[in-house]
Amino acid sequence: MSAKHFKIIALQSVFALFVFLLFVYFFVKYDSEQLQNQVNNMGQTLDFAIEVDVNTSKGVLASFAYNYEIDPDLDVAKFETLAKHYIKVNPEIIYVQRKDKETTTVMVYPDTYSYTLGATLMGRPEVEEAVRKAIKDKIVTANAPYVLKDSEDLLGLVIRYPLYKEEIFNGFIVVVMNIDNLLNNIIDAEMMTDYNISLIDDNEKLFWGYDGQHKGHVYINNIAILDNFWTIQVSMKDNMMASTIGFLTGTSFLFLLIVGLLVVMQIRLMKKDQNNQQLAISKEELENRLLQSVNAISKIGELRDVYTASHQKKVADLSCAIGREMGLKDEKIRNLSFGSLLHDVGKFFVPSEILNKPGKMTDLEYQIIQTHVDESYNVVKEIDFPKEIHTMVYQHHERLDGSGYPLGISGDEIILESRILAVADVVEAMTSHRPYRAALGIDAALKEILFYRGTKYDAEVVDVCVKLFKEDGYTISSS
Ligand SMILES: [Fe+2]
Repeated sequence: MSAKHFKIIALQSVFALFVFLLFVYFFVKYDSEQLQNQVNNMGQTLDFAIEVDVNTSKGVLASFAYNYEIDPDLDVAKFETLAKHYIKVNPEIIYVQRKDKETTTVMVYPDTYSYTLGATLMGRPEVEEAVRKAIKDKIVTANAPYVLKDSEDLLGLVIRYPLYKEEIFNGFIVVVMNIDNLLNNIIDAEMMTDYNISLIDDNEKLFWGYDGQHKGHVYINNIAILDNFWTIQVSMKDNMMASTIGFLTGTSFLFLLIVGLLVVMQIRLMKKDQNNQQLAISKEELENRLLQSVNAISKIGELRDVYTASHQKKVADLSCAIGREMGLKDEKIRNLSFGSLLHDVGKFFVPSEILNKPGKMTDLEYQIIQTHVDESYNVVKEIDFPKEIHTMVYQHHERLDGSGYPLGISGDEIILESRILAVADVVEAMTSHRPYRAALGIDAALKEILFYRGTKYDAEVVDVCVKLFKEDGYTISSS
């Protein structure tokens, strides 16, 4: 492979690599944006679902509180009925509890490490502080989830509502819901098996979900849970990234395969191109050799006719000039050249005494000279030329009006190549010396073909020939 071809392949490979990297860049960029969008959508859906469920519990509380405030004598039976109703409607609510001022003070608040609700307040300052704050602000408060029982799948969220009667704190209504069950239900519903999900409480402690480092494509948001907030983090599981990397690896392999195939194809094309170039050179060489051979035969044919040296060469030049002026294709010009160079080769078989006889010829001598057409044809037909070359040699003394020889054919029976050769032949002959006369000159030659324009000679060919001499400055060399 040449250095030039190597350069082309190298350039193509670099270009292909550039296109591939561009593709990878846009794919990764697009894929990254898509994944981040998916993660964001998933996180927002979770936000919404959690808030809706927690607010449902808050609504339950508000409803109880309202009933309690307008009906301070809300009896236990009515409370129990309402509580059962809400628990039935909201299956995640484990129970609803009313605690009056007295019971609130002795047992209410959670102990993460205890499986009973109702640990004493005694000696638990942080709980007392939380209660005081709730009472003071008259707000609903939510405990961070904690384990209610010795069970990993039960995670309680306690929401409390302080009750007042004439501005005097009168206890709490408490709703306890299974947050673990709630989250599992939401996540199952959203089919988030491809994601890691973490819920972190306001003390930045993981209380639910995936305990690991989140990297890339992470959705992080604070969810307001009553007077608390949780931080939600959603990220993709590694297998999704792995599938992306796997895709890129597969694509890279495919790319390398395609580049490899392209290079192989390119090398083959270049080799073919080199072969074609060599063949083209060989063809040109062959044509040159053929032309040299034809020229040699042409000269041999003229050996006996000392007065017509180079006649065929000059006729060939003029025929080709006429053909080009008429706009003929290269192949026809080539045929004109070969046919013209050989049209009189048969004169070799005519005795030189007759060919070079200075005086007037007898009829017999003229008939013998006419045989050169058959002899020329016999020589040329042995060469594997296109048929037109054989025909133009055989027809070069025929005339349009049928007055020519050897067959006396006329009109369209005479092919264009023969008509051109006929005009070029007579013009060159008249401008050359002959044993029986001096050269007549180009004017006499043109006058001759114009005189027989459209009768013996093709009108268009005559016009083109005259134009060549009169307007284009064409000349026939005297040698
Ligand atoms: Fe001739």
